[in-house]
Amino acid sequence: MMGGRGSTVFICVLLSILSSACLSSGFTPVDNYLIDCGSLTNTTVGDRVFVADNSASNFLSTPKNTFAKASISVTSGDYSPLYQTARIFDGTSKYTFGISQPGRHWIRLYFYPFVSGSYNMSRASFDVTTPNHAFLINFNVKTSVVKEFSVNVTSKNLVITFTPSGNSFAFLNALEVVSVPDGLITDDADTFNPAGGFKGLPFQALETVYRVNMGGPTVSFENDTLGRTWVPDKNFLIGNNLAISISNFAAVKYVGGGATQESAPNAVYGTATRMNSENDPNSNFNVTWEFNVNPGFQYLLRFHFCDIVSRNPNDLYFNVYIDSWLVAENLDPSSVADALAVAFYRDFVTAARVSNKLRVSIGPTNTIDNVYPNAILNGLEIMKMNNSLGSLGGPAPAVSDSSSKRNVGLTVGLSIGAVILVVLAGIFFMFCRKRRRLARQGHSKMWIPLSISGGNSHTMGSKYSNGTATSLDSNLGYRIPFVAVHEATNNFDESWVIGIGGFGKVYKGTLNDGTKVAVKRGNPRSQQGLAEFQTEIEMLSQFRHRHLVSLIGYCDEKNEMILIYEYMENGTLKSHLYGSGSPSLSWKDRLEICIGAARGLHYLHTGYAKAVIHRDVKSANILLDENFMAKVADFGLSKTGPEIDQTHVSTAVKGSFGYLDPEYFRRQQLTEKSDVYSFGVVLFEVLCARPVIDPSLPREMVNLAEWAMKWHKRGQLEQIIDSTLVGKIRPDSLRKFGETAEKCLADFGVDRPSMGDVLWNLEYALQLQEAVVPGDPEDNSTNMIGELSPQINNFSDVDNSVSAAQFEASSVDDLSGVSMSRVFSQLVKSEGR
Ligand SMILES: *[C@@H]1O[C@H](CO)[C@@H](O)[C@H](O)[C@H]1NC(C)=O
Ligand SMILES: *[C@@H]1O[C@H](CO)[C@@H](O)[C@H](O)[C@H]1NC(C)=O
Ligand SMILES: *[C@@H]1O[C@H](CO)[C@@H](O)[C@H](O)[C@H]1NC(C)=O
Ligand SMILES: *[C@@H]1O[C@H](CO)[C@@H](O)[C@H](O)[C@H]1NC(C)=O
Ligand SMILES: *[C@@H]1O[C@H](CO)[C@@H](O)[C@H](O)[C@H]1NC(C)=O
Ligand SMILES: *[C@@H]1O[C@H](CO)[C@@H](O)[C@H](O)[C@H]1NC(C)=O
Repeated sequence: MMGGRGSTVFICVLLSILSSACLSSGFTPVDNYLIDCGSLTNTTVGDRVFVADNSASNFLSTPKNTFAKASISVTSGDYSPLYQTARIFDGTSKYTFGISQPGRHWIRLYFYPFVSGSYNMSRASFDVTTPNHAFLINFNVKTSVVKEFSVNVTSKNLVITFTPSGNSFAFLNALEVVSVPDGLITDDADTFNPAGGFKGLPFQALETVYRVNMGGPTVSFENDTLGRTWVPDKNFLIGNNLAISISNFAAVKYVGGGATQESAPNAVYGTATRMNSENDPNSNFNVTWEFNVNPGFQYLLRFHFCDIVSRNPNDLYFNVYIDSWLVAENLDPSSVADALAVAFYRDFVTAARVSNKLRVSIGPTNTIDNVYPNAILNGLEIMKMNNSLGSLGGPAPAVSDSSSKRNVGLTVGLSIGAVILVVLAGIFFMFCRKRRRLARQGHSKMWIPLSISGGNSHTMGSKYSNGTATSLDSNLGYRIPFVAVHEATNNFDESWVIGIGGFGKVYKGTLNDGTKVAVKRGNPRSQQGLAEFQTEIEMLSQFRHRHLVSLIGYCDEKNEMILIYEYMENGTLKSHLYGSGSPSLSWKDRLEICIGAARGLHYLHTGYAKAVIHRDVKSANILLDENFMAKVADFGLSKTGPEIDQTHVSTAVKGSFGYLDPEYFRRQQLTEKSDVYSFGVVLFEVLCARPVIDPSLPREMVNLAEWAMKWHKRGQLEQIIDSTLVGKIRPDSLRKFGETAEKCLADFGVDRPSMGDVLWNLEYALQLQEAVVPGDPEDNSTNMIGELSPQINNFSDVDNSVSAAQFEASSVDDLSGVSMSRVFSQLVKSEGR
C-alpha cells in the first residue's frame, strides 16, 4: 500500500507548489510498522493497514501469547477498528523493530481497556520503556487513549519493552513505529527563562501531550499529512467571548516561512483563533489558553502562525506569552517572508515546570502606534521532554487515583542496612487526628490514606503495623535504564567504589546530565526479592526532605537491584571527626550538622502517618554535602521477614555496636526512642571525636557512651572533649549539649526526649554558643532555660493530646524551613503512657 505512494508524491509536490491544496501525504515514511495487536486479520484505518499481530509476531518476544477480544464491538471514535482486540503481557515483553533509516521516529501506542476473561485491563499497570528512555511508568488507563512519543533512533533496532508493575499485567491494542520527516523537529528552539537558545532537541524523547487546531474543528489523522490528530481549542480557552474563530484555507502559503505541509496541514494553518477586538479599537486584553502539565518536566511548545486575517502587510503586530513571560514581542507575521498568509512556526522550551498549569496567551502590542489591536494563533503543539534521567514518566499527579494503590503494609525487604518500621499507637492516633483536620482544610493531599486498625502496639520486624493499608505510589522514584547506570559508573569501575555494605557495593558515578550520584548495587535478586525491592523504592520515594539523602532513581533491569542516590561531596560525618586526617570541624559546624541530622530524623519519626524508625543512626550514616549540610542516609533500607526477630538483632549488634539502645535488648521492642538513644551516642562522638567503641583504651574508656556519661555526671565533660575544641565552646553551650546527650541516653525510652525536643535543645545550644550576651552569660542562659524547662524536663506531665494548632504551625512536610519554635519542646507523644 505504501509503495503506491511514489507516483502521488510527485503530483503532490507539484500541487502543493501550485495551490498548497494537496491533502494526501507528501512524505513516505521509510520505517512504517503498523500493528493491530491480538488481531488475526489486517485492519484498515483510513488509508493505512495495521497488520495482524500473528503475522507481526516476529517482532515480539513475550513469555506467553495472550490475545484478547472485546466481547461487544467497540465504538470509540476513529480508531475503533483497532480497539476490538488486544495483547496481554503477563511478563516483560519486547517488541524489536529494525530501523532502516536513523532519525526521529514516532511511537504511537493505542490503548482501549476492556474486560476479557480474568483480565480487566482498567486494572493493568505497567511501564513502557526503550533502552534509553522511559515512556510510561506505572501506567494505568481507564478510557481509550493514543499515546504518541518520538525519539531519535540512531541504532539498527528499536526495542520497546512492556513491563508489568508488581503482579499486574500490561496490554496493548495497537502500535505504530513510523519515521518522522527529518526537518520536523530541528534544534532551533528558544528558551525564555532565561532567554536564549535551547540545544539538544535531537537527543530529546518527546511525548505529544497537546496538539491543538486553533479556531477550527478536529483535524483527524485522515486529513493530516502525517497521520496526526489535532483537537479544537475551545476546551482550553479561558473566556470564550474574548476570542473568535476565523478560517481562510485558500490563503495559506507554504513558501518562505519555513513551515511545510508536514509542519501542519492546511486545515490547521487555514484556521485561527483571534482577539475579539472587531468592534473596539481600544481593546486591550489577552486571549489565553490553559493546559494541564506535569510539574518537574520541561516542555517544548510549537506555535503555528499564519496571518489569514490581514489585508495588508504590517497590519498585525502582537505579543505572545508563555505563562507571564513575553516570548515574542511585536510579532509581525508578514515580515517573516515579506508576504501575507505565510505559514511559519516558533519553538520554545520551558524551564522545568513548577506549576501543573501551563498558560499560553496572545495579546495586542502597545509599543507600536497606530496598529489595530489584534492577535492570532493558528495551532499549538505541546510536547513533554524527557527529564535528566531520560524519563517521560514519573510522579503521577497526587492522589487523584487512589483506588488501585498497592498495599505497603506488606513486609518490606532486603538485607540492606537499617530497618524501617513500627507504628506507635500514640503517634498514630495523633496523626490520624491531624490528618482529619488537614483534610477538612483541604490539605488532604499531603496525607497518605490509611486505616487505623491494628496500629495499637509496638510492632516488631520490618513491617508496618498490621492492617494499615497505605497508598504510596503517587511519588515513585525514577527508573533509570541499566545502560545509563553502567555508563554513569564507568562500567561499575572497582576504583569508583566508595563504600561496601552488607548488601553490596556503593559506587560513585555521574549521570549523563552531569548529576553526581552514589550508586548502590545490591546482589542479584531472587524472584521474591523483586517485589520487596519495588516496595522499598516506593517507600523511599516518599521521604523527601532537605536533611535526608534522597533517592534519585533505581534500576531493576537484568535482575539488578540498584538504588541511585544524590552524591554527598563531603562523605560521612565520622570521617570528619577522627581517623581520616580531615581538618577539624568547628563547634558551630558540629552543632549545625547535629541540628541538620536531628531534623532529618525528626521528619522520619513524624513526617508521615507512620513513624519510621531509622534503626541504624550513627556518624557513618550522617553524610555531608558540598556545603557541609547534614543529611541522614540509609533510612528505609530494611531487612524483612519472619526471621527478623532472630537475625536482625545480631546484625545490628555487629553493625552498630556502641550505638544500640539497651532497652532494645531488654524488651526486644523498637521505637523511635531507639534512634534517639543512638543519636545521643552520636552527640558524644561529635563532642569527643573518638570512636564509640575503642577496645584499645583502658576498660572504663572503651565505651564512649558510658565514659562520657560518667564525666557529664561529675560536671566535668570539658575534660574529655575533642582537644581541638578546648577553650572554644562556651560553657553554657557545652552544658546544654551535654544535658541533651544525657537525656537521649536515658535507660528507658519513655525518659528520652523526642527528636523534636532534641532538635530544639541543639538549636538552643547553638544560640548559646553564638549569643553575644551582655552581662553574665550564665544568668542569661539560666533565665531562658528556666522559662522553658517545664516542657523540656517534664514532658511526661504534658497532656497526651498534642495541641493541633501548635503542630500545624510546624509544617509537617518539611520542618527544615521552619524556625524551630518552642512548639517542639511541647510536642510530646503519648506513646506508651
Ligand atoms: C496483512 O498484511 C501483510 C502486509 O501487508 C501481509 O503480508 C499479510 O499477508 C496480511 N495478512 C492477512 C491475514 O491478510
Ligand atoms: C474493571 O476495573 C475497573 C477499575 O478498577 C472497575 O471500575 C470495573 O468495574 C471493572 N470491571 C469489571 C467487569 O470487573
Ligand atoms: C539524531 O541524532 C543524530 C546524532 O546522534 C544527529 O546527527 C541527527 O541529526 C539526529 N536526527 C534528528 C532528526 O534529530
Ligand atoms: C477531511 O477534510 C475534508 C475537507 O476539508 C472533509 O470534508 C472531511 O470530512 C475531513 N475528513 C475527516 C475524517 O475529518
Ligand atoms: C497579557 O498577559 C501578560 C502575561 O501575563 C501580561 O503581562 C500582560 O499585561 C497581559 N496584557 C493584557 C493587555 O492584559
Ligand atoms: C533527555 O534524555 C537525553 C538522553 O537520551 C539527555 O541527553 C537529555 O539531557 C535529557 N533531557 C533533559 C531535559 O534532561
